[in-house]
Amino acid sequence: MNTTIPVSKEQVISAFQYRHATKTFNTNKKISGEDFNYILETGRLSPSTMGLEPWKFVVVQNPELRNKLKEVSPGAQRQLDTASHFLVILARTNLRYDSEYVMNQLKNVKKMPEEVVTFYSSALKGVQEESGLLKDERLLYEWSAKQTYIALGNMMTAAALAGIDSCPMEGFDYAAVDHILEEEGLLQEGNFKASVMLAFGYRNEEPERVKTRNDMEHIVHWS
Ligand SMILES: Cc1cc2nc3c(=O)[nH]c(=O)nc-3n(C[C@H](O)[C@H](O)[C@H](O)COP(=O)(O)O)c2cc1C
Repeated sequence: MNTTIPVSKEQVISAFQYRHATKTFNTNKKISGEDFNYILETGRLSPSTMGLEPWKFVVVQNPELRNKLKEVSPGAQRQLDTASHFLVILARTNLRYDSEYVMNQLKNVKKMPEEVVTFYSSALKGVQEESGLLKDERLLYEWSAKQTYIALGNMMTAAALAGIDSCPMEGFDYAAVDHILEEEGLLQEGNFKASVMLAFGYRNEEPERVKTRNDMEHIVHWS
């Protein structure tokens, strides 16, 4: 376990101040392979419920595919044209407690002994039954999708700490994007759906607006 504290609190806050939803990136400046792998690694290391990692990170670099996505993504127009690296984060559709994926994840990725797998799987069954996830495929997908946002946030912060800009995007037609990705064979026969997009690169100019947020008293309630 690494117990050193590699960055100061001031550096972290300054990265949060530096990060902004970048619309247009500098097309002459590409993120290095090493830096992009660092960003992906922070996505990979992100937490998820019971460590189920219900995501896939599709890196869209093919200009033709970017153009197809552009036609159905009003909120990602400039980002698709200019990002050094463009991610579509997919969420798993079937995260049922007894699915092949969940079983494999517990046994072979998390390396749990048989009795621990049984314990986790039955705990998961309880949670999924209680919250109605088993009766509604949409809810089950959204449960996965919520978790992709943890990886999304971590990758944006990691990028900012390295001076790399990013933009999260939900401004797209989900069904149309799924259709395009399905045609590319990226959804593994319905096992995934698009959850959120995330563009990376280097800013062309300083943000159009200064960062605005509610005051702390407005959003934090101590009781
Ligand atoms: C989940 C999510 C979806 C977003 N969707 C879009 C989008 O489709 N297009 C876009 O340009 N910005 C999008 N944004 C960026 C927000 O507008 C932006 O984060 C917000 O205005 C705060 O500004 P800041 O990130 O620069 O601090 C999205 C942000 C989040 C977190």
